[in-house]
Amino acid sequence: VYKAAVFDLDGVIADTARFHYLAWKKLADELGIYFDEKINERLKGVGRMESLEMILEKSPRKFTREEKEHLAEKKNGYYKDMIEKMTQEDLLPGAGELILALKGRGVKIALASASRNAPIVLKRLGIEELFDYVVDAARIKRGKPDPEIFLVAAENLGLKPGECVGMEDSTAGIEAIKRAGMFAVGIGDPQILKKADIVLKDLKNFREILRLFDNQVESI
Ligand code: G6P
Ligand code: MG
Repeated sequence: VYKAAVFDLDGVIADTARFHYLAWKKLADELGIYFDEKINERLKGVGRMESLEMILEKSPRKFTREEKEHLAEKKNGYYKDMIEKMTQEDLLPGAGELILALKGRGVKIALASASRNAPIVLKRLGIEELFDYVVDAARIKRGKPDPEIFLVAAENLGLKPGECVGMEDSTAGIEAIKRAGMFAVGIGDPQILKKADIVLKDLKNFREILRLFDNQVESI
């Protein structure tokens, strides 16, 4: 029986995956490193420093620890500029409706985002109060595809992973959900999110997700 929905943020609830991409692209262009949307698929769901390492793989140059920290901070500056003007309008279609409908059914809501900017984004979207638990990205030791962040979410909701449905737009995230032992809903392209239990193009069709929670209620 599913009792909770554990959401990724960037690319699931908000269109911020696009901002992360544009901010990395700007940095890569400045460094003269090739970067495109295809390479970006690998970065989705992955933490800031690890993402930077993936971009720098394409450079013949070696960067020191300090240089890398400076570059990561630079990207974060670009990203912060981009999210500054976000409002409730920037919720992806169906996301707000889904969360409200789930809450109406007594389903617990958690956020499992690797982004340290997640609390700011939730605030800008005006939905922070709808969450029963938001994982603090800074306290997660192993990033997605490790299941840690999803396991921490379930534990803090007081639920077993098998009682949770995870939602993700990244391959790393879907793998993390499956390794945690949750039901995985992929948001995006089924060709990319192959390991998901079901894949939806976006949350406009959120009734498909509500069905996961509704069918079981009838069978009790
Ligand atoms: C999420 C996004 C990634 C981003 C990571 C860290 O997982 O999908 O694109 O790199 O969070 O975000 P941050 O805001 O902490 O740099
Ligand atoms: Mg994401």
